[in-house]
Order: sequence, then C-alpha cells, then structure tokens
Amino acid sequence: MYVKFANLLLCYLCFFEPVSCARSFWRGKKFTQDGPSRVLTSWQSKNVETLWFGQWLDHNDATNPTTWKQRYYVNDEFFKRKNNKAPVFLMIGGEEEATARWMKEGAWIHYAREHGALCFQLEHRFYGKSRPTADLSTENLAYLTSEQALADLAFFIEAMNEKYQLTSQNRWIAFGGSYPGSLAAWLREKYPHLVYGAISSSGPLLAKIDFTEYFDVVVDSLGSYSKQCVENVHTAMSQMEILLKHMIGQRSLTDKFRLCDPVEKSISNPLDISGLFEAVASNFAGIVQYNKDNSPHAKITIDQVCDVMVNQSIGVPVSRLAVVNEMVMKQDEVKCLDYVYDKTIKQMKNTSWESDVATGARQWTYQTCNEFGFYQTSDDSSKVFGDRFPVEFFLRQCTDIYGKKFNAKSLDRAIYRTNTNYGALDPSTRNVLYVHGSIDPWHRLGLIESNDINTPTIFINGTAHCANMYEPVDDDFPQLKAARVKIDDYIANLLKFE
Ligand SMILES: *[C@@H]1O[C@H](CO)[C@@H](O)[C@H](O)[C@H]1NC(C)=O
Ligand SMILES: *[C@@H]1O[C@H](CO)[C@@H](O)[C@H](O)[C@H]1NC(C)=O
Ligand SMILES: *[C@@H]1O[C@H](CO)[C@@H](O)[C@H](O)[C@H]1NC(C)=O
Repeated sequence: MYVKFANLLLCYLCFFEPVSCARSFWRGKKFTQDGPSRVLTSWQSKNVETLWFGQWLDHNDATNPTTWKQRYYVNDEFFKRKNNKAPVFLMIGGEEEATARWMKEGAWIHYAREHGALCFQLEHRFYGKSRPTADLSTENLAYLTSEQALADLAFFIEAMNEKYQLTSQNRWIAFGGSYPGSLAAWLREKYPHLVYGAISSSGPLLAKIDFTEYFDVVVDSLGSYSKQCVENVHTAMSQMEILLKHMIGQRSLTDKFRLCDPVEKSISNPLDISGLFEAVASNFAGIVQYNKDNSPHAKITIDQVCDVMVNQSIGVPVSRLAVVNEMVMKQDEVKCLDYVYDKTIKQMKNTSWESDVATGARQWTYQTCNEFGFYQTSDDSSKVFGDRFPVEFFLRQCTDIYGKKFNAKSLDRAIYRTNTNYGALDPSTRNVLYVHGSIDPWHRLGLIESNDINTPTIFINGTAHCANMYEPVDDDFPQLKAARVKIDDYIANLLKFE
C-alpha cells in the first residue's frame, strides 16, 4: 500500500526511507529504515541516545495545559565539555520519521567533529514517534504548523541549555534540508537570541500554490542529457492521450504501465486520468530531484532514463515511457501503478497512527493544504508533461481529504500568511547560509542569489536535492566538494569570537 498523489519534498535525509529527504515515499515506496548515505558500514549507536522531551501541545494558548512527549537524539561524542565555548549543533527533523543514523553520518557530523560540537536532533511534531494527539483527525492536525514546530525547537533549546548548563558562549547552529532547511532559516529569524546561525539546505522560502516551475526544472535537467530526450518524453505523453481515445489503446496502457486498475473503467473520470498522468510524470520528478545525490535511494539516474527514452529499438516513445515506469516501479518495489482518485483519497482520510499514510503523507499533505501549497502542476498541452494535472486537481484533494474548509480561498489566504510571516524570498536575517543545487527543482522557491551582504548563498552547479548534506564520497563532483568546504568555512566564521 502506498500513496501516490502527495507531492515531493523530502531529502532522503532521514533516516528512514525517508525523507526528509524522500520522494518516492510519496508515491509508492516501501518504508524501510535506512540512512542518509550510501556508505552504510561504520554506523553504530555508541554515544547516541534516544530521549523524550515534555512539550506543550499549543504554544499559542497558555491556558492549555496539555503536554506530550517529543523524541530527540543526542550525540556527545565530539563535545568538548571543558571548552566553555563549545558549540551546539541542531539537526531539525522534518516531514518523516527522524532516525538515529543522522547522529553518526552526514556532512554535519564532520563539521561537529571538527568544531567539538554537542549534537542534537529533534523530531518534528506529528511525524515518526512524536505524536502530540491520539490520532490524525483534521481537528488534531490544527496543531501541526511550522510555527508550532519552531516553538517546539525554541523550548527544546531553552531546556537543553539548562540541562547541559550551556551559556550564550555555547552557540547553537541549526541544520536542515528540504522543509527542515526552511525551518532552520526561520528558526534563526524568529529566535535569534536562541540560535546563533543556520545552514539551510534546499529549503523553499516562498510558499506558492501553483509550483509549475517544478516541472520546468525537471525538463531542463532532462535537457542536460539531450534535447531529444525531452522531445521524446513530450511525444510519449501525447501518445498516452491518443491511446486513451479508444478501447484497444486503453487496454494497451493498462498492460504496458502495469496499472492496478484497468484504465478502461476510469476513462469517464477525469480525476483518475489526472492521477495517471501525474503518476507517470512524477517518475521523472523523483529521478531528477534525487539524481546522484549520494543518498542510498537515488538509484535510477537521468542518464539511465534518457538512455531509454532515446533508444529506438525499444519501440515508439510511449513504449519507452512504459519501460521507464517499470524501472521506477522495480526500484520502489511497487507491484502495480496506483492512480485511481477515490482509492487514494480513501487511504489519505485514514486518521489512525497505524495507517500507511501516517508515515507522513497525510500530515505533509495537510501542511501543503494549510500553509505552503507547493503543488507540482502541469496545465499546458504545449508543455512536456501536458495539461492533465493543473492546480485544481490538487486543491480538490485538499477539500476531499480534510473537508470543505480547505479550498482555493483558504489556501490563498494561507500562502499570503506564510509569506508575510516569514518574509518569503526577502529575508533579512543574518547568519543564515542558503545552499541549493541547480538540478533540484526546489531551488526555484529558494534563495539562490544573495539579496545583500547578510544573506550569503551557495548555488551548486549540477547537484540534486540536499546533496551537500550527505556523507561525502570520493567521486562527489568537485563543485560539491568545494561547497562543503565553503559551508565549513562559514561555520568556522560563525564560531569565531572577537
Ligand atoms: C536499446 O534497447 C535494447 C533493447 O532493450 C538494448 O538491447 C540495447 O542495448 C539498447 N541500446 C542502447 C544504446 O542502450
Ligand atoms: C486505517 O488503517 C488501519 C491500519 O492499516 C486499518 O486497520 C483501518 O481499518 C483503516 N481505517 C479505515 C477507516 O480504513
Ligand atoms: C555547469 O556545469 C555544466 C556541465 O557540468 C557546464 O556546461 C556549465 O557551463 C556550468 N555552469 C556554470 C554556471 O558554471
């Protein structure tokens, strides 16, 4: 069982199939425990403790006494307790389970070793084992907002300062990738007295409902292989439309794309057809977003899918598209391609912590409907991915999953609110470094050029989502290696005392 409509964010950081770093997570992968790097050998749990923190349910209401247990991890292996200026590094959890593996791996651990930092990771409310409420009813999800999550982090920092007897000399540096990358920047912005600086990786700063640029970047990235690859994807998507027009073509699609339910039965339901096109297009989205990112999940590359898309001996373009689909299904261990709208909605409406969608899909989709939008649409037949999944398709899901209150109007207001609250692409916070990769579609909603001297950026040519966060390996691109050095220099500067 899996969920396919929810959109991609996630660095596979996480430790879990995860996401924060996971995309296939949203459209059909099995959820296994896994780590941030493809080098999985040295990991062990020595020095890493899993602990629980008593947290307020509602930071906006001092009369609400409800508390819950939030999970966090500590690694004090590098911490130089005797140095009263030793820094504290905080990895911010995101829209998936947080796992202990990050406490031993990833670029930030190398920085921690170098600077003698005490390391924490706080799991995000409503994800993993950090469960503030008995279930995931829409009523309870009202407590799932980025602002509540930031307040969780603030109270956590205050408590750890006390527990470890830290002073203002022990500077906190926040780290995060993808949505937690946004949170890292916003944490420094909202709580500058608690967090001295932040490294914000692949973090979208602009909330936007219709994120049509996402697939533009996917197209550009496929174009780095060849123009022919892009043209053939476009032709293949158009051929899908032609096949849908008659019975024999429909049967052929059902068969070629290994659909869970025959498209012949769905032909009169445009929502199902939207789901089908969105599922096929998101095969490419996932491949581009995670292309060679060093995570253990980025297996299929742009080169591999384009090799197929330009290979005439496989047949017409739509047949090649079916081969790509099969490659992705095999990688994700999915037996058939699910696309039927009502089936997905039914799954997404399950409010139990035991349901498959509780691994993050129900929660994250709620956050998109209530705070961010970020819908990866295609609504123009002249575009490579066609016109079958416009923004209305995603808004409809908000209403059908969470109720009538969630609609185009409420989301307009939510987006305006989010951008007003955080400052969108015009932050004026000091001590935040914004890092993005050029082939990662999320860079289009992030800061890739400094607005002024206070907002430094690193834009890495040729890398994918969160690439700089994973465990370094020898064959990393030179520009990625250089970016890691720059980030380290930036941290060293933050930690310099005058
Ligand atoms: C094209 O596809 C055929 C059939 O799958 C395969 O045997 C051949 O190696 C491919 N050619 C290239 C250049 O990849
Ligand atoms: C929700 O998911 C759980 C766990 O998979 C399942 O037992 C339950 O029947 C589901 N509830 C509904 C209403 O489908
Ligand atoms: C990015 O890298 C590509 C190939 O690796 C190169 O062709 C291009 O000029 C580079 N762009 C910049 C801005 O350096």
